[in-house]
Amino acid sequence: MSLRFADLPTKQRALPNHPPKYYSELLQKSDELGFTMPSEMPEGQLLKTLVAAKPGGNFLELGTGMGLSLAWMLDGMNQQSNVLSLDNDEKLTAVVKSIIDDERVTILCTDGDEWIKTNAHQQYDLIFADTWPGKYRLLQETIELLKPGGFYVIDDMTPQDHWPEEHFPKASALKEVLHNHPQLTVVEMNWSTGVFVCTKL
Ligand SMILES: C[S@@+](CC[C@H](N)C(=O)[O-])C[C@H]1O[C@@H](n2cnc3c(N)ncnc32)[C@H](O)[C@@H]1O
Repeated sequence: MSLRFADLPTKQRALPNHPPKYYSELLQKSDELGFTMPSEMPEGQLLKTLVAAKPGGNFLELGTGMGLSLAWMLDGMNQQSNVLSLDNDEKLTAVVKSIIDDERVTILCTDGDEWIKTNAHQQYDLIFADTWPGKYRLLQETIELLKPGGFYVIDDMTPQDHWPEEHFPKASALKEVLHNHPQLTVVEMNWSTGVFVCTKL
């Protein structure tokens, strides 16, 4: 059985030659705080590549966590792009805000469900839905927030030993919905923890 990224000590997570700004500091902090849900580096690299395809883009991350995927996104964004990242854990958003100093970023501490319901007028070029709201809840409302040609990205879709039993049917149902969604073209990738990249038609 392979170890999860979250279970590897920092030193064993070989950094790429040019890690994103803030990344090492965030990873270190993530270990100090015992954060168990960090996005993996290959996912970050994919996000960086996708946001780079949208110069001047408007991006949304649901689930800031320790800001690791956010650091990757920033690394791919040009100066005219911006990203809103939100999380309902004030301790996490405070730490990430204290480390990431970039005028292209807004970090909000708020409940994702409430935020999605009250921001239906927003339009994004990429949404990384890395928490329950926007993925297992309010999926259609979140897809409505995408511009045509915009990317909807989720990870953690490959069944894992540590999943609680009730999570398996939920993940299968989500896969089914995405593959059959009339507004999306979908690629299910055997990449990192299992990634879906969907483009809004
Ligand atoms: C998988 S982690 C995000 C990891 C992050 N992308 C990173 O690279 O560090 C999911 C995050 O969703 C947050 N979360 C859980 N429920 C939420 C909700 N209802 N609204 C907003 N954030 C929520 C958790 O606090 C957690 O930090």
